[in-house]
Amino acid sequence: MEKIIVKETKELKGEVDISSAKNSVLPIIAGCILCPEKIVLKNVKMLEDVQVITSLLRELNSEVEYSEITNDLVINSYNINPLEETNELVRKMRASFLIMGPMLARFGRCKISLPGGCNIGSRPIELHLKGFKALGANIKQGHGYIEATAKKLIGNRIYLDFPSVGATENIIMASVLAKGTTIIENAADEPEIWDLINFLNKMGADIYGGGARKIIIKGVQNLHGITHQPIYDRIEAGTFMVAAAITNSMIKINDVNEEHLMPIIEKLKECGVVVTEEENGIIVDGRYDKSTADIKTLPHPGFPTDMQPQMMALLSTIKGTSLITETVFENRFMHVPELLRMGANIKIDGRTAVIEGCTKLTGCDVNSTDLRAGAALILAGLVAEGETRVGEIHHIDRGYKNIEEKFRKLGVNIERVTI
Ligand code: UD1
Repeated sequence: MEKIIVKETKELKGEVDISSAKNSVLPIIAGCILCPEKIVLKNVKMLEDVQVITSLLRELNSEVEYSEITNDLVINSYNINPLEETNELVRKMRASFLIMGPMLARFGRCKISLPGGCNIGSRPIELHLKGFKALGANIKQGHGYIEATAKKLIGNRIYLDFPSVGATENIIMASVLAKGTTIIENAADEPEIWDLINFLNKMGADIYGGGARKIIIKGVQNLHGITHQPIYDRIEAGTFMVAAAITNSMIKINDVNEEHLMPIIEKLKECGVVVTEEENGIIVDGRYDKSTADIKTLPHPGFPTDMQPQMMALLSTIKGTSLITETVFENRFMHVPELLRMGANIKIDGRTAVIEGCTKLTGCDVNSTDLRAGAALILAGLVAEGETRVGEIHHIDRGYKNIEEKFRKLGVNIERVTI
């Protein structure tokens, strides 16, 4: 079993390079299924989740090659086998369900295991299925599997009750090769959605925005091979921004798009952090007095739920009362008991956490309960007295490549140990 041990750090210094966005890379890899030609994805880090989806494509008989040196991921789905049934990998990672839209679009058939549950909520898929049905697919469920079939998908108008990221992506990919035009209303608007759209358009798709939360997809006959570099990870960048804030430090964060970070920057500014644009990145200066803040997680451009645990770690160290309301997932406060073990003062009232900032956290044994919760515990460990030992770090590896190396470069005393 591996743990990350982090020691109290007085100050961070230096620069950190941000990797490509996990939440862009996963749907884009699924999107490679749509095209029978070679696709090159640049600057992809082999995160645990990326390994799962590439293994899934290999199981389906796509050719997948990865270079640790160039970080190029090359995928050719010419020989992909639509009759292959997948099970374990889909259960392992919910985002695997994103292969259903492209498989249905290209072959008119897809049978996969129902995605498993997840710590942060039940995460149903009915919005994905509503979209497929509207495009003319037949859906059958039973024995833990879900099967979608269609002779030919036909464009339609689809309204999503909630702007689900995954459902928007799956429906976009299902519609790309459909006959006619599909309009998704109340679609998700995350930067990663637009990265997927740019990727598909480069391949020859015809997709554009039609105003607030409206995405229009005009079906095309076929797609061709391309090279694409996914956008940088705004959540990884946000995690390091909080690291600067919580340690009262100034660091440079390279390779980010400030516009994508706006909800996070605005909230950190409210807390007293100064963020300035620099060539090829931003400077985050957390050396000023901090103020409390209230946060409500919302679909983009609201405050991202994937930054909620990290902000909770920060607010736990700022004197005064802060409120965090989680509206996207029903069970995303699993990190609260762990932060309490470290001396934080947090009470949960339904979907709201009331945080009384304390003067000092103390290091102890804690467990990552999900990916971002794990990151939050490392952040808390940066300022906790003594040593914080974070367990269940496989959650962290799902979305951060070599997180300890990046922190070490900033001057943190942090190591990964096998127990
Ligand atoms: C994606 C991100 C995840 C992020 C989340 C919200 C990826 C790989 N993951 O997850 O990091 O936390 O967006 O920004 O991109 N819902 C339904 N029915 C559905 C689909 C979703 O009720 O059919 C609900 C979910 O239970 C959840 C909410 O909608 O409460 C948001 O889910 P969704 O936007 O679909 O998130 P994911 O795509 O799973």
